[in-house]
Amino acid sequence: MLVKPCFKYVLGALALLMLIVGISLVLSKAFPNFLQSKVKKDVVLRNGTEAFEVWVDPPAPIYMQFYFFNLTNPAEVLIGERPAVTEIGPYTYREYRPMEQVVFQENGTRVASVNPKTYIFQRNMSQGPESDLIRTVNIPAMTLMERFKDNAVAANLISAYMRATGIDLFTTHTVGELLWGYEDDLLKTAKKFDPELDDFFGLFYKMNASNDGEYMFFTGQQNYKDFARVDTWNGKSSLDWWTSDECNMINGTNGASFHPVISKNEVLYMFSSDLCRSLYAVYTNDVTVKEIPGYRFVPPFEVFANSTVNPANTGFCVPSGNCLGSGLLNVSVCRQGAPIIMSSPHFYQADEKFVQDVFGMRPNKDKHQTAIDINPLTGIVLQAAKRLQINVYVEKIPGFSQTGNVRTVVFPVMYLNESVLIDDASAKKLQRVNVQKNVVENIPFLVIGLGIVLGVIFMLLMCRQKVPESTEAERQPLISS
Ligand SMILES: *[C@@H]1O[C@H](CO)[C@@H](O)[C@H](O)[C@H]1NC(C)=O
Ligand SMILES: *[C@@H]1O[C@H](CO)[C@@H](O)[C@H](O)[C@H]1NC(C)=O
Ligand SMILES: *[C@@H]1O[C@H](CO)[C@@H](O)[C@H](O)[C@H]1NC(C)=O
Ligand SMILES: *[C@@H]1O[C@H](CO)[C@@H](O)[C@H](O)[C@H]1NC(C)=O
Ligand SMILES: *[C@@H]1O[C@H](CO)[C@@H](O)[C@H](O)[C@H]1NC(C)=O
Ligand SMILES: *[C@@H]1O[C@H](CO)[C@@H](O)[C@H](O)[C@H]1NC(C)=O
Ligand SMILES: *[C@@H]1O[C@H](CO)[C@@H](O)[C@H](O)[C@H]1NC(C)=O
Ligand SMILES: *[C@@H]1O[C@H](CO)[C@@H](O)[C@H](O)[C@H]1NC(C)=O
Repeated sequence: MLVKPCFKYVLGALALLMLIVGISLVLSKAFPNFLQSKVKKDVVLRNGTEAFEVWVDPPAPIYMQFYFFNLTNPAEVLIGERPAVTEIGPYTYREYRPMEQVVFQENGTRVASVNPKTYIFQRNMSQGPESDLIRTVNIPAMTLMERFKDNAVAANLISAYMRATGIDLFTTHTVGELLWGYEDDLLKTAKKFDPELDDFFGLFYKMNASNDGEYMFFTGQQNYKDFARVDTWNGKSSLDWWTSDECNMINGTNGASFHPVISKNEVLYMFSSDLCRSLYAVYTNDVTVKEIPGYRFVPPFEVFANSTVNPANTGFCVPSGNCLGSGLLNVSVCRQGAPIIMSSPHFYQADEKFVQDVFGMRPNKDKHQTAIDINPLTGIVLQAAKRLQINVYVEKIPGFSQTGNVRTVVFPVMYLNESVLIDDASAKKLQRVNVQKNVVENIPFLVIGLGIVLGVIFMLLMCRQKVPESTEAERQPLISS
């Protein structure tokens, strides 16, 4: 075999060139940067983009599951013992949450919309029918007693009425009633004195097929980091329930969408109207959902920590200076004065005291933490679970014999798990994007590899020429001369 010397040198030069090009491509991150800037341009809320369609009508099925705590020892609680509860659930609803009344603002940088949620009961994914009975604290009664505890005349009247009609601190209602509302006898009577009151009560009363107010979102046209970020809610750019400006801020998205190109050291802010506050999540680990890579983001302990651990949370102590401890949020101010306290299910990450105060609390990280798995390139949510417990602050109120000798306790009523898992069609699309990403990102390495192979061939050819002992090399001069 004859190899022309000039071919050898071309080969050598080519190998060197490929190595240089390959390595500089790797170092400059040209291909990933190109891909990212393309995604940043594409992921915008604009009529016609895929991101907009997904935002308006999320294709992934969302399920809302409710777990109730059935009280087993009401008589003992009234004489001062710890409540004992059994968890009952899930009661599962399919949740539909399209964006409606979508109106782009003049130059396309912002978009207004409302986000009504509709819940359809899924009997086959529930532990029982909506007619299951749950014994829990009588929230309308507790609310009225708290409200009038300093008004001796009203307190006497209410207390007498409760005694006459047999209304107790604890009550039994069906799951459907507790969630979606029932006419409450006590509220109905109180309404005669205060027409502002509603005579229905339910934890999700009037929340089916209705929205939580008008949002104004940024579209991400000017800055990809602003994709789906909330600008104003009900016309206001901050809240007024809390006692510091920092706590009143409306930060981030609504938690259902996130901007593309997410890095591990990012802090993802979101505003939750259920919680009446903004919160944030940070990266914890890598995950794979339906073969798509994702980052898991979880709200850290500090988000709900007490003001000693996280001084920024001082503003959530209401009334000012009245802090309840880690893991609890007094949302009375945004629940028409009902003594509602929010926490994680089973008081996960709350002070141990609250767990000890109620028999039957078993906090568990996997079951009770809130987590969001996001595809880092596109910002698409692969899987998410928002978990929240609704508790009632129960205490002995001197003017009301109904509260007996009850000990002060944050009484768990129900917790919810609102979860979503990417649908198969969207997952397929994302898998393709991911394959493309891998191919594109590996081109520089392919170039380097080729350069190395060519370099090796070049060296072999050079060596063969210099070492005449090899049989082939011996024959070569004969042929060429
Ligand atoms: C989007 O475009 C379609 C067709 O061009 C139109 O019917 C629709 O109203 C537009 N939607 C919005 C929110 O502007
Ligand atoms: C878009 O309009 C808003 C007000 O409607 C204005 O504040 C903003 O500067 C405008 N942006 C551009 C890029 O024109
Ligand atoms: C919610 O509203 C929808 C439609 O208005 C209805 O079909 C559904 O049964 C309601 N769900 C509940 C739990 O009441
Ligand atoms: C439950 O029933 C609905 C229809 O009512 C069906 O679409 C769904 O697949 C069922 N789910 C399970 C887990 O069986
Ligand atoms: C909850 O407790 C009450 C009172 O003991 C009982 O009647 C009811 O059946 C329980 N609910 C469920 C769903 O087991
Ligand atoms: C909102 O974000 C700012 C930083 O941009 C932060 O200082 C503040 O604590 C956040 N507020 C809430 C309630 O998360
Ligand atoms: C919760 O906040 C309300 C309204 O500010 C207040 O009246 C109530 O005392 C607070 N509850 C507790 C347990 O601190
Ligand atoms: C805040 O939490 C920390 C740790 O959980 C605890 O040591 C501290 O006593 C708490 N402070 C208050 C005021 O509750």
